[in-house]
Amino acid sequence: MGFKEQIDITRLPEHIAIIMDGNGRWAKNQGKFRVFGHEIGVLSVKDIVEGCVDIGIKYLTVYAFSTENWNRPIEEVNALMELLISTINQETATLTKNNIRLNAIGDIASLPQKCIDDLKSAMDKTANNTRCTLTLALSYSAKWEILEAARKLAQQVKDQQINVEDINEERFSAQLTTLDMPDPELMIRTSGEHRVSNFLLWQMAYTELYFTDTLWPDFRREDLFEAIVDYQKRERRFGKISEQLN
Ligand code: IPE
Ligand code: IPE
Ligand code: MG
Repeated sequence: MGFKEQIDITRLPEHIAIIMDGNGRWAKNQGKFRVFGHEIGVLSVKDIVEGCVDIGIKYLTVYAFSTENWNRPIEEVNALMELLISTINQETATLTKNNIRLNAIGDIASLPQKCIDDLKSAMDKTANNTRCTLTLALSYSAKWEILEAARKLAQQVKDQQINVEDINEERFSAQLTTLDMPDPELMIRTSGEHRVSNFLLWQMAYTELYFTDTLWPDFRREDLFEAIVDYQKRERRFGKISEQLN
């Protein structure tokens, strides 16, 4: 039996987050330049999006470019931006056909103007799609996002719109870039690295973490289904004890 058949569709995670890692090492293993790994990595994104839509995942958030990734060699940064632009433009029609809404989180204003424009156009075109929301984390880092939220709340207090006592979990979450989505129940990181690299730190407070040695360009929907099967075997206790759960 394949992993897909083992999934209990009545207990699917609503939101899956993925740190797509290992493109560079994958390319190096083939004797190719790192950018080739990013190119094949796009095929993995497409397959995973289709896999999510196929089984009914409502939110998929993928870490595509971190704040820290700006520190990579300029040639690689430029190649990633080019790849982002071409992929967005090539895939908008498919997203529309499959009823997928494209969303982006991060410091979008820091991206090259062409990226911003094409991203916005693709997001506008897919804004009313309802089957699944695909969120690209671009120039994203959780510390950046949490600081932005803190600044906005501080400003609201300063402007006497809210009192300090009004700041609670709900209000804080509403200032984050993920305000319109549930927290991810499952986070997958490929390539054997066991860290979260500044991704969704607030939202992953109770997320189940799944690590695999598979490099991102090799990660396809059967691997996703395997991760979901693993997730469904876990007991999520949220601080309670086993006997309190039904
Ligand atoms: C992930 O693959 C893609 C991005 C961070 C943009 P890497 O480029 O980090 O690949 P490795 O980790 O060097 O193998
Ligand atoms: C994390 O991958 C960011 C993305 C996948 C976009 P990195 O490869 O940049 O992470 P670190 O720096 O090795 O932790
Ligand atoms: Mg990496």
